[in-house]
Formats: sequence, structure tokens, C-alpha cells
Amino acid sequence: MKKTIVFALPLIIIVSLVIIIFGVIQVRYEEDKLMDDLKRKAETVAESLELSAGYVLANNDQAGAQRLVKRFQNKKNIQGCALYDREGKLIAITERFRDWKDEEREYYRDALKNKEASDLLGKFKKIYVYSHIIPVLDDQGKILGMVEMIYDTSYVFARSMDFWRNMIITLVLLVISLLLIAALVLRQMFLVPMRQLTVWFKHFQKGETSKMHEISQKSELGELASEVEQVALSLRVAKKSMAEAATIRLKKDEIWTESKLKDLVNAKLGDSSMVIVSNREPFMHVLDERTGAAKYVRPASGVVTALNPIMRACGGTWIAQGSGNADRQFVNSKDKLGVPPEDNRYILKRIWLTPEEEGGFYYGFANEGLWPLSHITFTRPIFREADWQMYKQVNQKFADSVIEELPAKNAFVFIQDYHFTLLGKMIKDKRPDVTIALFWHIPWPNPEVFSVCPYQKEILDGMLGCDLVGFHVQYHCNNFLETANRLLECRVDNEKNSVVRSGKETLVRPFPISIEGVSRYSVTANEAREIDRIREKYDLAGKIVAVGVDRIDYTKGIVERILAVDRFLGKYPEYLNKFVFLQLAAPSRTKIKRYHDLSDEIERLIEKKNSKYTNGAWRPIIYLKEYFTPEEIKPYYRLGDICVVSSLHDGMNLVAKEYVAAKNDLAGVLLLSKFTGAARELTEALQINPYAIEEFADSLKTACVMPPEEQKRRMESMRKVVADNNVYKWAASIITNLTELQKT
Ligand code: G6P
Repeated sequence: MKKTIVFALPLIIIVSLVIIIFGVIQVRYEEDKLMDDLKRKAETVAESLELSAGYVLANNDQAGAQRLVKRFQNKKNIQGCALYDREGKLIAITERFRDWKDEEREYYRDALKNKEASDLLGKFKKIYVYSHIIPVLDDQGKILGMVEMIYDTSYVFARSMDFWRNMIITLVLLVISLLLIAALVLRQMFLVPMRQLTVWFKHFQKGETSKMHEISQKSELGELASEVEQVALSLRVAKKSMAEAATIRLKKDEIWTESKLKDLVNAKLGDSSMVIVSNREPFMHVLDERTGAAKYVRPASGVVTALNPIMRACGGTWIAQGSGNADRQFVNSKDKLGVPPEDNRYILKRIWLTPEEEGGFYYGFANEGLWPLSHITFTRPIFREADWQMYKQVNQKFADSVIEELPAKNAFVFIQDYHFTLLGKMIKDKRPDVTIALFWHIPWPNPEVFSVCPYQKEILDGMLGCDLVGFHVQYHCNNFLETANRLLECRVDNEKNSVVRSGKETLVRPFPISIEGVSRYSVTANEAREIDRIREKYDLAGKIVAVGVDRIDYTKGIVERILAVDRFLGKYPEYLNKFVFLQLAAPSRTKIKRYHDLSDEIERLIEKKNSKYTNGAWRPIIYLKEYFTPEEIKPYYRLGDICVVSSLHDGMNLVAKEYVAAKNDLAGVLLLSKFTGAARELTEALQINPYAIEEFADSLKTACVMPPEEQKRRMESMRKVVADNNVYKWAASIITNLTELQKT
């Protein structure tokens, strides 16, 4: 409607102006004409009375005068007649103008003096009247008196009003007709073609050429559509030749880099498209508490570290929950934005969850149910029916959003983690042609443990909707295959490492996740300054520094770490005043009671242990509870003589790899829990059982006394593992597996 009004408004204004101007002229003309008629009538009647009035006046016939004026009392249109004597004094007047004499009227005198007719347009009581007065003369030309005719002129104005009313009705009808015509023209000329073009674009974008509406080639839109087709064709051709060039470059056997991954993505995906789904978004917009301005942050998540480079290489769409408090300010009408914000390389589509959805799906089912179920840390999983219902609802919401983004063919979907076990099946139900992989970033428990989950069948069914399910290590793959075998009607092929259920096969593969690579450069001047600042701030000079970097999570073994430091200092007092343990701890999932309690427990324990050993300024444990960016963490790794990774159970643990990557001086010892995925690759780390506090404390001692040559040897070996098996290789191997599964 708004569009129609805007479209028709200029026309309506012009037409209205013309009609109004015409109306004014017409009314004037009509009024003048009516007044002329009235005047003529008044003149004629007055003149026709002149004779009888002369007789009455000459004979001073009062009764005759009354009779004369009374004749006008019964006339339909209000009118009257008055007779005056030679002095101008009123002798008789029609009854309805009885009060006429009360008002002084100058024109009498003129008529008497000049012996000429005179007239006036004036007001009597509340009505406008026209009066015409003529002198009555005898045969000698002497004044006998005067006759006056008085007419009510209201009908002239009433006629004008009628005219205006008709004019307004005409105008309204005209405006309505104009609006209707405008709406029709707008619809036919713009809206219908625009809608047609939008539908055409939508299908064209998705490659659904069969569903495209016909657009006449001869119309302007047809020409536009045909230009778009030409551009798309050029892009396809360019992509194809990029893919070929990329395949040639790939043959060179060198370390995996972002550009080599890009080559692989170009060669393997060609003009296919990739959609990644995760709960945690790669870039989050938040309001800076100090300045009130919005800024973006990269959340503390291994998933983000690993997937960001893939998306940078293939430029697809990443769908994730919008959880930053300023996220809505930065999306377009389709909830999308280009990221990284300063160098748009791919699209981030944000999904909004209500607090109830987030409570049931994320905090409840995913993190109080599946998370403790999958990590063997003896924290009891909590399964609430309401959380499960919300988990299903949110999975469906994400599935619908993914389906919206999928092109007509050649689509890949890469789902992250335990938040979306049902997504694979939900997408396949609607789009069986899409190739789907799910990567499980946490451990998979054994069948006995998994079987406590009340929704085990639906979860396994959902996951087996995918074509590929990945874990970090073979051990977790074996657990998954065994779980499927025991809890579901299916066939597990141990040769191929796959599960076949209802005729559909899902491959199960290990893909050990990693980081971008190792740092090959020595410390920059800025970094050196930052390291000195930290050393000075926490009085670390001349001391052995052990670092820990974690989200505050009960799976990370932070409590065990503090107990081990305590035991180490108790058992080896020569390290009092000479050893500092520095823990960087990012608050995480704080709305969950278990996490909240853990945070309190850690703080209490640190305080207790610090007061046990504190001697002057020295405190053995420094606890920095805040979020650090990857750039901020790096100096801590660099100055750490020891890095402690004591997870009680962990899918991979990228902190271990990040520490090794940062130590380009080849000095430093990694203490690594044998219950992490990383322990399978970083065999030169000092492997520990975090539950065995005595052994853990002894390992700290071993690290403190490890000769530099041995540190160097171990570090070199671990750095080679990380350099050779970086995140690009991880991504390349998933993409290779995925594309090999693509349906033709
Ligand atoms: C683990 C999960 C990731 C998750 C990360 C951070 O590493 O495997 O999927 O992103 O924890 O947890 P959060 O709950 O803060 O996303």
C-alpha cells in the first residue's frame, strides 16, 4: 500500500490541484451569475411595484401599503418588500423583515438624494441578504417615497456548497481510481517482474535450473537475467580452471599450508559448496564494558581454531548460534555477515536461540548430559526430558536453516560436535543427495557408559544419517563402532570401519585435529617486552615457571594439578621460592552449577595452598581467571619452562600442541595427561596420570631437572609431529574423505 501511495502521490497532487483551481474559478463564475440574476429580478420586481407604490404613497394609504408588502410573506424563497415615505421613514415591511428598520442603512439617503436606484449586499440577523431600493417619483419628478426589495442570498452559497461537495466527491473517487490504477500498474510493471526475478535468482543461486520461472528474454528483466547467467558461466569456467591449476600444484609434496588447503578445496570441491555447522560461532560481537562500543572476539574454542582456516580457504557458509550481546547489530536481513569482519572470506549465518532453547539445548542436554557422558571424569550426566525436547527442537531449527542454504546439487555439510547429533538425519530426510560429515571433538565412551543415555537410539540414528563420522583417535572410533554394534540393529564392517543401517553406510574415521603449525621465528621485540612485563609483574625472574592454559572445566584436571604442585613442593622443598605455577583460566559454562562449584573449589584450594607455602612475596600458584586471546596466551607459553596439560579425559587438547608450537627456542618440557588424544601423537612429552598425584609430582621434578639437550631433542621431535600434522592436513584429509563419498 505504502509503495502504491508513493507511486501515485505526484499524480494525485497534480490532479487535485487542477480540480481545486477549476473549482474555485467555476464557483466564482456560478456565484456571479446567480447574483446577477438576483439583481435583475430585484430590479424588475421593484420596478413592477413602482406604480402601485406610487399610488399608495401619494394617497398615504396605510392599508394599501400593508397589503402590498404582505404579498411577499408567502413567497417560497425568503424575500421581502419595504415601503418608505419621502423622508425615508419606513411605512410598511413584510413581516419576516420586521426588524429591518433597526439597522441604519446609508444607501437610503443616496437613493433619496440622487433619485436613483441603489443596492446593497449585507447581513440581516444571521443571513446574507441583497436589497435593491428605487425611488418612487410623481409625474413632476418629485419624491413620493421608496420601494425596497430584499432577498435572502443563502441559496447562492448553498449552491456553491453543493458544487464543492460534488467536487470533493469527484476528487475522492478520482484519488481512489488513481490509487487502484497505480496499484495495478505497480504490480504488473514492477512487483510481479521483481518477484519473478527474485524467485529466479533464488533458484539460480541454488542451481535449481529446473525450478526456475521463465523470464522473457526480450524484457529488461530477461536481459538482466541473461547477463547474470553470463557472469555465472564465467565464474564457473574460472573455478574449473582454478581447480585444474590447483590439482597440478597439489602434486608437489610439501608441508600443508593454508594455500595448499585452498588448492585442495578448489580441486576437490570445484563448484560444490560447503556449509559448516557448529554451536559456537567463530566471531562474536560483544559490547566493550569500558567504552560501550561493540567489538568482535574469537571465542576460546578449539573448534574455531581448527575450522576457521578451512572456511577461509573454501569461502562457504558457517552456521552457528549468535551468542554475542551485540551480534544482532552486525547481520544483514538474512542474519548473515562476512567474516573475518575486516577481511570477509566467508559467510557467517547466525541462528538466534531463546533463553529457554539455550538452557535446554546447550546448558542442559549438551553440557550436563552428553558432555559428562562422553568424558570419563566421574561426573554424573543429567538427562532431563525437557532438555531433550529442546535439544531436538534446536537441532531441527539448525537443520531447517542448513537446508535453506543448500544449492540444488554438489553440497557438503560439515557438522561439529555433540551439540548436533540429530542434524545429519534431519538434513538427509529432506535432502538425501547432500554429503554430510560429523566431527565429534570430544571422546566417545564405551558401549556400557553410552548405554545409560535414555535417548541412545535416536542419537545413534541421527549420527548414522551422516556419510562420515570423525573422531580424533582410532580408539574413539572403535568405541563408536562397538556402541553401534551393541545398541542398534545394524551391521558393523570392521574391515572398512563402517556401520550399515537400513541399507545406508556411514564411514567412521580418525582425524587427529591440530593447530596451524609451529612458530619458526624467534621472539619479536614486542613479544620480548611482553614477556619481560609478565616476568616483572609476577616476579618470575630466576624461577622455574610452569604454565597451565584451560577453560575452567572439570575435565581439565585443574584441581589435580594444584594437588600435584602441592605434593611436589612438599616432597622437594628445595624448589620453595624457586618454582611458580601460573594458571590461565577462562571462565566457561558458568550457568551450570557443576562449573560454578568447580570454579569456587579451585579458588579455595589455591588460596589454601598458597597460604601454606607463602614466604614473603613468593606465592607458588598464580591464578589468572579471565579470557585471554590466542595472541595474549603466546608470551605465557614462551616463558613457560614447563607446560602442564593434565586433562582427566580429552578428545585431543590443543593446548599441548600450542605450547610445543610456541617453543621455537626448543627449551621447555610438556607434561601431558595420557588420557588426552594428543598423548598418542606427542609421545616425547612426559606422560602423566593426573589421578596419580605422587607420580604427577615426580614428573614435575623430572621436568625441572631435565637437561637442555634432552628438552631440545624431545621438543624437536614433537614440533615435527605438529608441523607435519597441522590443521590444514587435518582439514585436507576430512575434505578428501568427504568428496570421495560424494554422490554422483
Ligand atoms: C570443547 C568442544 C567444543 C567447544 C569447546 C568450548 O572443545 O568440543 O565444541 O566449542 O569445548 O566450549 P563452549 O561450550 O564454550 O563452546
